Amino acid sequence: MSIDPAKPVQRFEDLRGILRYVPQFRQRVFVINIDGAVMKLPGFAALLQDVAVLQSLNIEVVLVFGARCQIQDLANSRGVTLSNDDGMGRTDAATMNVAIEAITRQASELMADLTALELPVVISSALAVHPAGVIDGVDQEFTGRIERVDVESLQTLLKADILPIVMPLGYDGRGVTLRLNSDAVAMELAVALNAAKIIFVSESGLFTEAGGRIAQLSVAGARDIFKKRDPRHDVNMLSKLRYGAMACQEGVPRVHIVDGTQDEALLAELFSNEGVGTMIHADDYQQIRKASPSDVGTLLSMMEQSMDDAALVPRSREQLQSKIADFFVLELDGNPIGCVAVHCFEEPDKSSPLAELACLFVRRSHKNKGHAQKLVTFAEETARQKGCHRLFALSTQAFRFFEEKAGFAVSDPQALPPARREQYERSGRNSKVLVKDLKA
Ligand SMILES: CC(C)(COP(=O)(O)OP(=O)(O)OC[C@H]1O[C@@H](n2cnc3c(N)ncnc32)[C@H](O)[C@@H]1OP(=O)(O)O)[C@@H](O)C(=O)NCCC(=O)NCCS
Repeated sequence: MSIDPAKPVQRFEDLRGILRYVPQFRQRVFVINIDGAVMKLPGFAALLQDVAVLQSLNIEVVLVFGARCQIQDLANSRGVTLSNDDGMGRTDAATMNVAIEAITRQASELMADLTALELPVVISSALAVHPAGVIDGVDQEFTGRIERVDVESLQTLLKADILPIVMPLGYDGRGVTLRLNSDAVAMELAVALNAAKIIFVSESGLFTEAGGRIAQLSVAGARDIFKKRDPRHDVNMLSKLRYGAMACQEGVPRVHIVDGTQDEALLAELFSNEGVGTMIHADDYQQIRKASPSDVGTLLSMMEQSMDDAALVPRSREQLQSKIADFFVLELDGNPIGCVAVHCFEEPDKSSPLAELACLFVRRSHKNKGHAQKLVTFAEETARQKGCHRLFALSTQAFRFFEEKAGFAVSDPQALPPARREQYERSGRNSKVLVKDLKA
């Protein structure tokens, strides 16, 4: 989704999609950590343009980078054996020498590339560090530990629209240069700056055993993968999961891991509902809320395909608008991904009204995560609160879901309130009738 400044915007829908998110991100800090391997890719120039897009939207970007690849390359060309090449263990003097050279070169190249994009940029040494000391009996030598972040100096830069680059290096009180893990740097910066996000632009994505993308992870889930040291995930990814989980625990609301080898990954992760990477989140950010008249357009466009496929009854804007008080929206991170409606039918000859669970829908991209079952439970509770002891649903294509996953039983049209039965017969949809008794 890189925007070529030489051309007018070609895809207006991209721009609209982006602008929807701008109010919530404006003047919020995003810490972006780019793997060294990604900086060597041909698509890196486009990635920096995407960083420039964020900056132009008044997002305050702090840039961090990793250097594993560059340190390895330089060590190979010099015949140096590294004490560690992932920034996570001991750093001996020879490794430190190579690291300083590789990292300062990368910083300088980044300065040059960003300056060419007319982004005001500085290399900031905003970290107070100490030697990591002796860990498990091993002197870590030139490996550093971050003690403090100079928040004031970084905020001064950000307020002046200057993008700070923070290297994975630090300088202690004795003037010694120490090597840092860039993921730890990103975490410390994000926590200190009260950032809205960390985005790790990694050399790979995070996948399940079956090869599917892991779209979301709770803090506990991320820590679990790190602790198990699952061999499917390399040390680079485990480090991101570890520091990403720590950042969330310390108050950073969202941490994203995107595959930097994918074109447009950064913007697509941030500015689309479904994302393309993995998001680690601290809180349960799902909520089911009452729909409001302003949701009508979103609900209609979300359900359009299912209405076309006749899985849902086609509803006009006016029909939806008139019944909007009965609708509930399931939101993920502020974005609607599902809905359900509960309509009540008073029956003069019955002791309690009947309720219909209608218009149950979950976006295709969020299927099979238990969202529909949550919506059904919510609808049952809503019906109960309205004094209903029985819930019914009409379904053409998801009746098995209601039977097998939601505890409904197949019934017949006689179970429907007379007004609804008449409508049912007129529709000719021949839906299955499903009912569930609600315990008080
Ligand atoms: C039907 C629908 C609501 C299910 O949403 P969901 O969030 O994916 O469902 P959940 O994650 O809660 O449940 C998934 C389980 O239900 C099963 N399931 C989903 N749709 C099903 C269907 N149409 N028939 C039978 N089983 C179904 C899945 O196989 C899965 O089973 P598993 O747990 O054994 O793997 C969703 O697919 C949808 O919106 N469909 C289009 C609209 C529709 O048909 N709505 C119902 C009309 S009222």
